Amino acid sequence: MLKITVMVSGGGTNLQAIIDGIESGLIEDAEIVKVISSNSKAFSLERAKKHKIDSIVIGKENYPSQKERTKAIIKALGDADTDIVVLAGYMSILEADLIEAYRGRIINIHPSLIPNFCGPGFYGKHVHEAVLKSGVKETGATVHYVDEGVDTGPIILQESVPVLEGDTVEKLAARVLITEHKILCEGIKKVVESMLTYEGGK
Ligand code: GRF
Repeated sequence: MLKITVMVSGGGTNLQAIIDGIESGLIEDAEIVKVISSNSKAFSLERAKKHKIDSIVIGKENYPSQKERTKAIIKALGDADTDIVVLAGYMSILEADLIEAYRGRIINIHPSLIPNFCGPGFYGKHVHEAVLKSGVKETGATVHYVDEGVDTGPIILQESVPVLEGDTVEKLAARVLITEHKILCEGIKKVVESMLTYEGGK
């Protein structure tokens, strides 16, 4: 059974998708052992509590320096015996020490078709604003491994989403979010299966 720690900052609909994906049996051989939130007011924490998942807040409010935050995150991941880290609406950049410690085992969900509309400044609604401004007729979501760059690690899964006439940022964000939830679960399933195959099961 692989242990997943999910890192969040906000409402946690992606966290909820993973919880539902495990409870429905779509994602097998894995469990969420910890939720780390960068924000003590994140609704994600309510979702974790409802599903009896242990959570911890590690953010600027209680660890002012990034070095302290990274140290606390690495400790929390280790204490939970984490196999896979999933960034689900997590709004902070991870430091190199953390990426090194979990290289090839940190995955992120981004609300566009990387390499388009990604990188510094492209998060949340800013992504969809840029998509609408560009006039492209197709966007999407991407699950990828996290490396030292911003949204630059190897791609695991992508799925396109149409941009429709009269789309607002909110309408487009909501349509993309549905695809995020779907491919995040599929992506985690793929990573779990590959890790279990590679490590001969655990
Ligand atoms: C959404 O903008 C999503 O595209 C991105 O994180 C934001 C919030 O996600 N991945 P969540 O509802 O907190 O999971």
